[in-house]
Parts: sequence; structure tokens; C-alpha cells
Amino acid sequence: MPTLTIAPSGKVIEVEPGTRLLTAILGAGEKLGHKCDGKAECGTCHLFVSEGKKTLSKAQRLENERLDATVGVGSKSRLACQALMGTENVTVELLGFASG
Ligand code: FES
Repeated sequence: MPTLTIAPSGKVIEVEPGTRLLTAILGAGEKLGHKCDGKAECGTCHLFVSEGKKTLSKAQRLENERLDATVGVGSKSRLACQALMGTENVTVELLGFASG
């Protein structure tokens, strides 16, 4: 099973492909904002994907629109509530600030 590495804590967990990153990260006991509960409306689950971005599900229009309106967005940005785990290992970076 592919692994998800969560920075900055360095926690590594195994994640079933197709699992929402948000679900996996919260399940690992990490803190990540999720004010709108996965509707791609709040932007508080914004994180950086430092490795494995290609294996994740593609960002859909809603996610891209939300990211466009979010502070601090870069080429590694995803919304954890929208990105689904793929079949390869992924490393994410929690940003430690609530954006959007
Ligand atoms: S939980 Fe609100 S955008 Fe992801």
C-alpha cells in the first residue's frame, strides 16, 4: 500500500488509494483545517504536495477556483478534501496557517 508522509511532523502512514487526503491526515491525528467539511468552499485544508503530486486525483474546476482565491497558493498546492490518494507514495506539507 502507498504511504503518505506528513511534514513537518514526519509521520508516515499507509493509505488506501482513493482515500481523501483530508481523511487520511485527520485519521493520523494531525491537525488540518476543514471548515466547510470537504465542499471546496473554505480553503482551510490547503496544503503543499512536495512529492507524488502526479499520483493524486486531478484537481477539478471547483478546487481550482477555490485555490485561485486562496492566499499563499503555489504550484504544489492542493485542497486536502479534494485530492484522492493514488497508487504511489506521497509527501504533503501542512502549512500551519489557515488560508482563505
Ligand atoms: S475542507 Fe473546505 S476546502 Fe477543503
